[in-house]
Amino acid sequence: MSQPQLTARAGRSRWPSGLRAALATVTVAATAALSACANLGGLNLDTVGAPDQTTYVKLALNQTETHPSYIALDNFAERFSERTDGRWDIDIFPNEQLGSQQEVLQFVSSGAIEMAIVSGTQLENLNKDFQVLNMPTTFSDVEHQMRVIRQDEIVGDLFDSLAASNNISVIGGFTQGSRSIYTSGSPVLTPEDLHGRKIRVQESDMHIRMIQLMGGSATPLSYGEVYTAIQSGVLDGAENNEVSYVTQKHNEVAPFWSYTNHLVGLDYMIMRTDLREAMSPADRAVFDEEWDAAMTEHTALWDEETRRAIEQGEAAGAEFVTPDQEAFRTALEPIADEFLVSDQQRDLYERIRAEVEPVGEGR
Ligand code: GCU
Repeated sequence: MSQPQLTARAGRSRWPSGLRAALATVTVAATAALSACANLGGLNLDTVGAPDQTTYVKLALNQTETHPSYIALDNFAERFSERTDGRWDIDIFPNEQLGSQQEVLQFVSSGAIEMAIVSGTQLENLNKDFQVLNMPTTFSDVEHQMRVIRQDEIVGDLFDSLAASNNISVIGGFTQGSRSIYTSGSPVLTPEDLHGRKIRVQESDMHIRMIQLMGGSATPLSYGEVYTAIQSGVLDGAENNEVSYVTQKHNEVAPFWSYTNHLVGLDYMIMRTDLREAMSPADRAVFDEEWDAAMTEHTALWDEETRRAIEQGEAAGAEFVTPDQEAFRTALEPIADEFLVSDQQRDLYERIRAEVEPVGEGR
């Protein structure tokens, strides 16, 4: 059976976005069908990174081109291509062009695409230990979170845990910053204000429970469907960070932002394990170095882009209010006992919490 021809091209090039979107649909459908009937993923793993060709890698993202994740990934792809003399070409497909996160997770696993950014909530559905990092009380702030996920001694086993079972390697992460609630109709100032209101959550048991504890009723839905669901009145709101709120234009349909700051969320960069293993040690070292730089760039961009999003949201009429944060914090306290159910999860949680910096002591 022949391989799809979009996977190895000479030189680095950018396609017009309409064409890319069309090709994306065709490529994923074709490679998904192919990989179902043979050990095929669109790439010949014996020749990836070879000097006489360009190895074309598809990376799925559900954010817009103005989101810090796209910017950091695009720069990462550029640097990796340059440093490998164009032998590797990572093409980023933003805006869910290749599918929702739930779908692209399966595509990476089957080898239909090579890389994706997915939220931690997606990985908890493959290994419950990821829930530890998706829990409201785990990370105190972005600095704590990024420091933890760079420590192999803490997260190494977890990040490798899907390799044998799902052909998925977790390479690292981008912060989702601090997440808060936003609603249509009226702002949320207390847990009582959430009673009877339907709030979108990511596809995660833990996050369904999180919203229930906070006083609301939770509906899991994929990211790209949230705007229409709120606009049509099916949902009363959602929870996310300011950057997503504004880049996804959710402020247009849910203009009341309440700083519940209930969760410091985390996205992961995932990659086909067989591809990672097929890379030459030299290419892999360059890849890892540039990926590390991408995490640093993303974190640096985060605050600046958050400020910009708030300004844009306010200019467009959104109201940012501070609710009774203590009431929400107290409401969420039971979640740790409910979800840390194994020794392994409790141990991971404790090792992460031990990394919280005592106030006033920078490293
Ligand atoms: C954030 C996160 C995404 C996630 C989204 C969501 O934007 O970066 O990876 O998909 O939240 O709420 O679904």
